[in-house]
Amino acid sequence: MRVWEQEKAFGIENLKLADKPAPQPGKGQIVVGMKAASLNYRDLLTVMGMGGASLPLIPFSDGAGVVEAVGDGVSGIKAGDKVCPLFFQSWLKGPITAESRNAALGGSVPGVLQEHMLLAADGVIPFPDHLSFEEAATLPCAGLTAWRAVAIEAPVGPGDIILVQGTGGVSIFALQFAKARGAKVIATSSSDEKLARAKALGADFTINYRTTPEWGKEALKLTGGRGVDVVVEVGGEKTLTQSLTAARVGGSIVIIGVLSGFTDTIAIPLLFSKNLRLLGITVGSREQFAGMAASIAQWKLKPVVDRAFPFAEVPAALEHMKAGAHFGKICVTY
Ligand SMILES: NC(=O)c1ccc[n+]([C@@H]2O[C@H](COP(=O)([O-])OP(=O)(O)OC[C@H]3O[C@@H](n4cnc5c(N)ncnc54)[C@H](OP(=O)(O)O)[C@@H]3O)[C@@H](O)[C@H]2O)c1
Repeated sequence: MRVWEQEKAFGIENLKLADKPAPQPGKGQIVVGMKAASLNYRDLLTVMGMGGASLPLIPFSDGAGVVEAVGDGVSGIKAGDKVCPLFFQSWLKGPITAESRNAALGGSVPGVLQEHMLLAADGVIPFPDHLSFEEAATLPCAGLTAWRAVAIEAPVGPGDIILVQGTGGVSIFALQFAKARGAKVIATSSSDEKLARAKALGADFTINYRTTPEWGKEALKLTGGRGVDVVVEVGGEKTLTQSLTAARVGGSIVIIGVLSGFTDTIAIPLLFSKNLRLLGITVGSREQFAGMAASIAQWKLKPVVDRAFPFAEVPAALEHMKAGAHFGKICVTY
């Protein structure tokens, strides 16, 4: 089977296509024939050696496929089932623990860039029927992280306003989920053309963060001086201070990403004077995925796929993400 791996060095140029024997399931295990994958910014950081993973590495966390074989002792899942592997292989339910964060696909555990994956039987979950493999492949990290932000940790609904930053994978999912739950959305982007696409997806207000660098104040204006209920914070270094300005008194900022850098100096008095809740999250559990999948099925919600690259062109897909020209998710078809 074909596998993309980095053996001795990080860097997109050091990703090599290898040929390996297909796995066989042992007790309690299954083999999934992978059909599609999707890219996350974390995968780009990991491939470039900035994600904290060690070598050798089979990258990428997110994919979808069909169960091909089940080992002894496996029940509740059978050959032919269409599934997504979980981002955290051992976070099945309940609150996050140090242990449940340890087994992340495409990091400490071999990732989805292999044509046949050997997994624990409870390390996968069915995805909604109306989705293609590419669409389903966007769910395990980007979809679930956005879901956890706007449906679990800072649940939004009618009467709430959320702010999403940029038009990448997590932010577009947060926009779609928030609209489906009845909230209003302010979307930011560096591109007016992408903002028009965000409007078409349901964004109620848009701000170009290049031409309006003080977009926190603009968000306050758009909300009549009140501020937004929830900020889905994916920018990090260059966005957190604006997020603190944009949030309403008693609002929540869900800290997810580092697109513009890893560290920031923030005005601490703003945190307590506005009674803000800053909450860091990493993806979600199997149980939370099940809740997301049920709502996606009910809403017939379709993830936004920017483009799908053939399996042989994974390096080109990573370069496409690096260029930042995408809207929504970049996928790979096996
Ligand atoms: N904590 C977690 O569990 C978790 C899970 C998933 C992702 N993440 C993190 O969340 C972040 C987003 O991930 P992703 O996969 O959705 O990324 P992505 O798809 O690569 O997002 C790229 C987009 O982000 C926007 N962007 C870049 N710099 C920005 C800035 N300074 N202000 C506002 N928007 C900016 C740009 O949108 P425009 O082109 O529209 O300007 C860019 O196209 C990453 O840092 C990732 O590591 C964390």
